[in-house]
Amino acid sequence: MTTEAYADTEYWEKRWEEGRTRWHRDYVENILKNHCDFLTAGGGKCSIFVPLCGKTLDMKWLAEEGHTVVGVDIVDLSAQQFFTENDIPFKKHSIEDFSVYEATDDAIKIKFFVGDVFKISAECFDAVWDCNALVAINPQDREKYIQKIDSLLKPSGRILLTTYEYDKTLRNAHPFSMPPGDIEALFSSFNVQTAETIDETERFKTNFNLPWAKRHVFHITRKQQTS
Ligand SMILES: C[S@@+](CC[C@H](N)C(=O)[O-])C[C@H]1O[C@@H](n2cnc3c(N)ncnc32)[C@H](O)[C@@H]1O
Repeated sequence: MTTEAYADTEYWEKRWEEGRTRWHRDYVENILKNHCDFLTAGGGKCSIFVPLCGKTLDMKWLAEEGHTVVGVDIVDLSAQQFFTENDIPFKKHSIEDFSVYEATDDAIKIKFFVGDVFKISAECFDAVWDCNALVAINPQDREKYIQKIDSLLKPSGRILLTTYEYDKTLRNAHPFSMPPGDIEALFSSFNVQTAETIDETERFKTNFNLPWAKRHVFHITRKQQTS
């Protein structure tokens, strides 16, 4: 059984400093491309929140598609690497508990807040792209996290979420196993649709020595939609 200690800021900083960011992909997530119509309600220009964003290239791709993107990550190095590795010019300032990196190229609307997602109180967003975020949150903080996401989402907002599922008795660490039942229970005031399930056995065998794994993609909207 693999169990990691409570992942606090120090834990994540150490991982970034040591370059142990195996979750990072040097390509845009296919799930995002395949489900972007849902995320953007058919392709209109949206404001999109990317919690626990790391240095994902998905933010650049979304901004290049014309969307306004706001990311948040607790480790400053993730923001530094995101802007420098992608050659995106930026300016930096501070707002309350956050350092904010902001792209200065008007064609790419990206703001990257460095700080704790639980402290963010930005404007409301049209959509949330949760990729490897909820599954990285400590289990005891999940409900608080859903409340935060709820508070940042417009009444008509949409959440595109991915999780993993594997045998929980073999691993109790991030990325945590979160099958559809867990997501339906956590998002009880939302409509949760399992839009796709992908076999992840090979990757989880190699990375975590687990015998099987799946990845789920969820389309989430509020039960009572008002605009
Ligand atoms: C597993 S990584 C996923 C990164 C990104 N979503 C991706 O798929 O490449 C989780 C990220 O969450 C960040 N993080 C952890 N706790 C956080 C918190 N409370 N507030 C903001 N970011 C946090 C970590 O620094 C780390 O970069």
